[in-house]
Amino acid sequence: MLKGKHIVLGISGGIAAYKSAYLLRLLIRKGAEVQVVITPNGKEFITPATLAALSGKPVVSEFFAANTGEWHSHVDLGLWADLMIVAPATASTIGKMANGIADNMLITTYLSAKEQVMVAPAMDLDMWSHPSTQRNVETLRRDGVIIVEPGSGELASGLSGKGRMEEPEKIVEAAEKFFAAQHTLKGKKILITAGPTYENIDPVRFIGNYSSGKMGFAIAEEFASRGADVTVVAGPVSLPLSHPSVKRIDVTSAKEMCCECVKLAPSADVVILAAAVADYAPEEVAGSKIKREETGDMVLRLVKNPDIAATLGASKLPGQMLVGFALETDHEYENACRKLQKKNLDWIVLNSLRDPEAGFMKDTNKITMVSACGETVAFEAKSKREVAADIADTIFRNVPEK
Ligand code: C5P
Repeated sequence: MLKGKHIVLGISGGIAAYKSAYLLRLLIRKGAEVQVVITPNGKEFITPATLAALSGKPVVSEFFAANTGEWHSHVDLGLWADLMIVAPATASTIGKMANGIADNMLITTYLSAKEQVMVAPAMDLDMWSHPSTQRNVETLRRDGVIIVEPGSGELASGLSGKGRMEEPEKIVEAAEKFFAAQHTLKGKKILITAGPTYENIDPVRFIGNYSSGKMGFAIAEEFASRGADVTVVAGPVSLPLSHPSVKRIDVTSAKEMCCECVKLAPSADVVILAAAVADYAPEEVAGSKIKREETGDMVLRLVKNPDIAATLGASKLPGQMLVGFALETDHEYENACRKLQKKNLDWIVLNSLRDPEAGFMKDTNKITMVSACGETVAFEAKSKREVAADIADTIFRNVPEK
């Protein structure tokens, strides 16, 4: 997977920089061409001479060569790289990446990188858990960066906890996984619905639900970070969706969502229906605000909304994959299997409102995936981002090669 790949290895100033030499060797052994970019502080922890010898290339660090004044282009490397790995990424480097503070070659390379960037943080446990670091890490995630989570254990400070840079073998594994997924998903078109729908009663009132859009957006970001071409049709969701390559279409009602999906589905390889679509809408929408004084008690007549999943299931193209969600309160498995069949889905992602880790507005979810072929895969409770990765892994095992 790494053979012939151009990898920029960014090294910032942390004790874990000593592991970067080994990471570099592993990447070279796997056949990658590696160019090292080191921050001024990084050089305090590992010498450029070691890294140049291992990579077979001069190490890039300064904007200008000290002796000749020759200018090193700060964008060329970003364009050259198929993947940039920043390991170790200190709190400072993560903060600069998240906020575009381009005061060294590592950051300018990051800002001009056209392909995937991966970051392996390394710092003390308190620095890692600080809201500032967590905010910056989240910003990087939203910008499409893959985070190789630090492990727990003994830290350079003598303390013990989360913050150790992941082992080089694991970072190489993450890089291989990225290229493998990209191989399968590059150029694949993924259509995702997310969030609730609002069904207007009058110009100021609606029928809606508690869906936050977190799950659908996490799936969109996960697929986009694996190189897929992602379009999200989102109901009213206040979350930002900042992955640079995700296209977002905002809608309000189920009918609008259905219209967009019917237009887009024929060109999609995979359709994932994560939206909590309102099943019913008021038969009539009042043109002006309904006045309590004039109306008294009120009866709303509701009519059925289109079932987007069933509509797309009925017109599913050969080779197209359709994935639905089932949020159930009882007889979860049976209900999910029934929906899988009825809507002609290939996979259904089941979560139960009885699980404290699952449901609307939560940051975690606990899912079981059931396929039309009868395969059942159950997962532990995880963050919605990790759940998105599980869904992507499970589905793309089954996406036929183009
Ligand atoms: O039947 P139920 O609403 O539980 O089905 C859930 C699945 O169907 C979800 O994937 C949801 O996004 C989709 N759905 C839809 N259109 C509807 C209702 C549900 O696409 N009107």
